[in-house]
Amino acid sequence: MEFKRNIIITGGAGFIGSHVVRLFVNKYPEYRIINLDKLTYAGNLANLKDVEDKENYAFVKADICDYETVKELMEKYNIDGIIHLAAESHVDRSIKDPFTFARTNVIGTLTLLQAAKEYWESLPEGYEGKRFYHISTDEVYGALELTNPEGIESPFTTKASSEHHHAYGTEFFTEETKYNPHSPYSASKASSDHFVRAFHDTYGMPTIVTNCSNNYGPYQFPEKLIPLFINNIRHRKPLPVYGKGENVRDWLYVEDHARAIDLIFHKGKIADTYNIGGFNEWKNIDIIKVVIKTVDRLLGRKEGEDMDLITYVTDRKGHDMRYAIDSRKLQRELGWEPSLQFEEGIEKTVRWYLDNQAWMDNVTSGDYQMYYDEMYKNR
Ligand SMILES: NC(=O)c1ccc[n+]([C@@H]2O[C@H](COP(=O)([O-])OP(=O)(O)OC[C@H]3O[C@@H](n4cnc5c(N)ncnc54)[C@H](O)[C@@H]3O)[C@@H](O)[C@H]2O)c1
Repeated sequence: MEFKRNIIITGGAGFIGSHVVRLFVNKYPEYRIINLDKLTYAGNLANLKDVEDKENYAFVKADICDYETVKELMEKYNIDGIIHLAAESHVDRSIKDPFTFARTNVIGTLTLLQAAKEYWESLPEGYEGKRFYHISTDEVYGALELTNPEGIESPFTTKASSEHHHAYGTEFFTEETKYNPHSPYSASKASSDHFVRAFHDTYGMPTIVTNCSNNYGPYQFPEKLIPLFINNIRHRKPLPVYGKGENVRDWLYVEDHARAIDLIFHKGKIADTYNIGGFNEWKNIDIIKVVIKTVDRLLGRKEGEDMDLITYVTDRKGHDMRYAIDSRKLQRELGWEPSLQFEEGIEKTVRWYLDNQAWMDNVTSGDYQMYYDEMYKNR
């Protein structure tokens, strides 16, 4: 079958990547979607069970650092678009093992860029109609100060903004904010962003970079705050909170991020950067309280009865105080608007994890590796 476009999505078995793969496979039957993923501990093919048999979907187990394999794949499938999400993504792991982050996030991104460059430059039409879209994070901008610890009325809103609708400072990260990463994770992502822009400026590669705030929703590996806490509350295990829980993050429902990626991949301006976020700031401790109340309510417990599971632990080294994204450029230029209000998104998310305990047990036990071996050993 002849496809209109052939797109590699890297990291498609991970949290955000699986939502992007699902959206593209279902929305664009005329595109062939190749999910390139190494299946590290964070990659899980069970995240994509509902699309794995679709004709326009293929999975390839490979490392983005493996230049020959990536180049061969590009040639074999005549790739004209890359949406790059594969990464090591957990800050705590980067503090323990920064080399793995430099390897995957920096060398891996550079490998993809160089393979795309070599392949696209070998074609008669060159870079015409091609696109290299790199997914990055707001953490590259460093940290904002908590100038208003009690919260002030936020000057901006979107549909995602919570009913509680606070800002904890007057500054926001814009596309012009200077990079100032603090953790090995954000330093590696910043470095990869620079390489992507350098490939545009040096070779004319049609690149785009987006920087998004914290995502939440189904299929997130349960080392991250929201799924970890939902699971712990369910099993009445302690909820470790860094420092005083005062750190502020800006939360966006993962499907709204995937919709932004779709829009920007098709309509975004080459060589441009877009910040993605929903103007939805929360202190960690407040979000934990909302999650506790929601889990309690949905499990038929007394709302708030599990508050005593909160356990304050020594703060993370170099813990950034506040992230807050200004996404007005994306709203203004491409008309993107998140679809889900935070209170609705959190309810949907908690419900999903409670209804999918088997998924949770599976990813935490490592059984999904056996699932993979069984599914793919003979292909
Ligand atoms: N999670 C967030 O809140 C958030 C926010 C903004 C940006 N991002 C960015 O979005 C991207 C995806 O994040 P996520 O939370 O879905 O991550 P994740 O950790 O859930 O998934 C990462 C995926 O990449 C794969 N992978 C890792 N190393 C690889 C390698 N060397 N070769 C091929 N595949 C490899 C893993 O197997 C996994 O499937 C990352 O680039 C991250 O920096 C994440």
